[in-house]
Amino acid sequence: MNPEQRINELAGQIDRYNFQYYQQSISEISDMEFDFLLKELDALEKKYPEFRRSDSPTARVGGTITKNFNAVYHQFPMLSLDNTYNEQDLRDFDARVQKGLAGKSYEYICELKFDGISLSIAYENGILVRGVTRGDGLRGDDITNNVKTIKSLPLHVKTENLPSAFEIRGEGLMPFGSFQKLNEEMESTGENPYANPRNAASGSFKLQDSAETAHRELDGYFYYFLSAENTFKSQEESLLVLQSLGFKTSPGWEKVTGIDAVIGYIHHWEAKRSTLPFATDGIVIKINSFAQQEELGMTAKSPRWAIAFKYKAENKSAVLRSVSFQVGRTGTVTPVANLSAESERTVPFGEAKGVHISGTYVKHATLHNANELLRLDVRLGDVVFLEKSGEIIPKITRVDVNKRSLFQTVPVVFPSYCPECGFPLVRNEGEVAFYCPNDSTCPPQLKGRIEHFVARKAMNIDSLGQEKIALLFDKKLIRNSADLYELRYDQLIGLQKDMSNEETGESRPIHFGVKTVDNILKGIEQSKNAGFRNVLFGLGIRFVGATVAAKLAGHFKNITSLRSAGYNELIAIPEIGERIARSILDYFTDTENLRTLERLQKAGLKMTTEEQPDPAESEVLEGKSFVVSGTFDEYQRGSLVHKIEMNGGHVQSGVSSKSDFLVIGENFGPSKLEKAKKLNVWILSENEFGGLFQRSGVGTQRYVNRPETGRNFMDTAI
Ligand code: IVH
Repeated sequence: MNPEQRINELAGQIDRYNFQYYQQSISEISDMEFDFLLKELDALEKKYPEFRRSDSPTARVGGTITKNFNAVYHQFPMLSLDNTYNEQDLRDFDARVQKGLAGKSYEYICELKFDGISLSIAYENGILVRGVTRGDGLRGDDITNNVKTIKSLPLHVKTENLPSAFEIRGEGLMPFGSFQKLNEEMESTGENPYANPRNAASGSFKLQDSAETAHRELDGYFYYFLSAENTFKSQEESLLVLQSLGFKTSPGWEKVTGIDAVIGYIHHWEAKRSTLPFATDGIVIKINSFAQQEELGMTAKSPRWAIAFKYKAENKSAVLRSVSFQVGRTGTVTPVANLSAESERTVPFGEAKGVHISGTYVKHATLHNANELLRLDVRLGDVVFLEKSGEIIPKITRVDVNKRSLFQTVPVVFPSYCPECGFPLVRNEGEVAFYCPNDSTCPPQLKGRIEHFVARKAMNIDSLGQEKIALLFDKKLIRNSADLYELRYDQLIGLQKDMSNEETGESRPIHFGVKTVDNILKGIEQSKNAGFRNVLFGLGIRFVGATVAAKLAGHFKNITSLRSAGYNELIAIPEIGERIARSILDYFTDTENLRTLERLQKAGLKMTTEEQPDPAESEVLEGKSFVVSGTFDEYQRGSLVHKIEMNGGHVQSGVSSKSDFLVIGENFGPSKLEKAKKLNVWILSENEFGGLFQRSGVGTQRYVNRPETGRNFMDTAI
């Protein structure tokens, strides 16, 4: 099978498995086998880029960089909907519909209202060609490469009975699971986590590096099929067609008659929506028949045939019992509110259950930073309002000042000194967070850095969790990651501690027996096999997350080159901005860090990447542009391209005044030859091309000036 056939075969297989997995929840092969297929396809496409299909499933893993997103006009404007929060408005809407349709019967389709960002996806001849954000409704940003990373989104669809060009509209979103993972990762690298999944989705769809977008695991739900011709008769029909083509649609969408049934649907989903894996903020109600939609028409900005009902975020009151100031791995100090229900005001905090809101009991809520404390102006003992909307994180929205007693005057003050180590806190200009600069002895910072080092995406020492690290730290056996590699059996065996929980009063002893110690030491030993990118991530350089670490490892290949890289070299790498570059430079100027690094290196950790790129053969074709046309005997087309590139040349798709050489094989394109002749581009047969490398060995040819064009060319006569 030739590479082109294999590429097509793999693309087909991967596509089928993807469809089964994401649309039908079936999986015929293991994740590993799947990855294998994807890797094989990726490797082939890199080697034979000319055979890469525009709907290739490798787009899902990303890898393209978009510096600026092009603005594109929507073929049909993207409108918004009228919103309402109450049932009376819905009844009024229904009355307007009734009037507008002059007594004819009608049906509604009820769908969930997804809380993400609107997307418009264009297909031409069944192939996904463009994904665009809503923008201002008329013009959005072309984010095609990022949209293609949505694993459940078909990159091509069957075209039977469909117009050759159409657009699918829907919502791009970040499921709760991906959101939580992303925020944990961001917190662990000292970045500000996103406030809610919608902001996270919006930020992630606009990343320059699609590999990073892919990593963030976005999803999409679709509700609209648009084309120049009227393809379907109703919303019901188009939802069914979207489903059959493999698009995800609203779970539980329903066709109902009468506004009471609509309200019943709304009530039904009010509680149930919290069981969904993504955020919803309401229900969208649409007239089913497209003919009737047309009859009702639009107002200036929204259709008269649809309305959005938004659920109110659940709001509960709570008592602010105390505020803790937590110090994170990077030294950032975060105020956290300790809350109980109003009815629990006199119950000891350890025994209080907390406030029941949207299905869970809440006892803690972040107060974010000093500015937020000022904004809320909270006092200890205040009754506050707690809100949990589609966003899983509870938020204190305001103080109920009416319930504040005259004696309640103790304001919450942000400390000036680190609550853990007593160091004066600092705040960088332009940043809201205060942090403890004592990164060399402040306990939560030291422990946090070790926790980060052993994490799955770093050294993956899963036999060491937070509690065990705390114990080793308390026993003064570890202060930094390098200490782990010097731990001995006799130091660990028999260690124990009561990990009591101050809130619940629960006491739980941990004890290092033979098995525990064996596992810890084995885990530490095995971590020496972790790749350079994991080590780099594990170092805990501020703002260097797993993806950035992988990027740096791939670029620099080893720690020595990374260490010696300057600012300009760093920021020239896509996705490495000023902030990351400065942080890397800072890291490598700290002598403590350098000492730890040296010890880690001595312990045998990988400080170089193993995969080395093909070494270049020569620079003999440096700066030369080639066009390749036809088929060849000795070379596969792809390996000819490779050969050119390995010797410093580059390959263009068409002949232009910038071309230097046209290499022609059998069945070459006559128009290319014609053009090459006209533009005085040097023409080489396969033999001539190959001969260049054989006769005198690569690197010994010399360039002479070609009088007609003034351009340099390779003198094959020597
Ligand atoms: S239909 C004419 N259906 O809500 C606009 N929109 O406020 C038709 N949305 O911009 C939109 N879920 O981004 C529709 N099931 C759903 C939706 C939905 C979320 C968003 C969409 C739209 C906004 C309208």
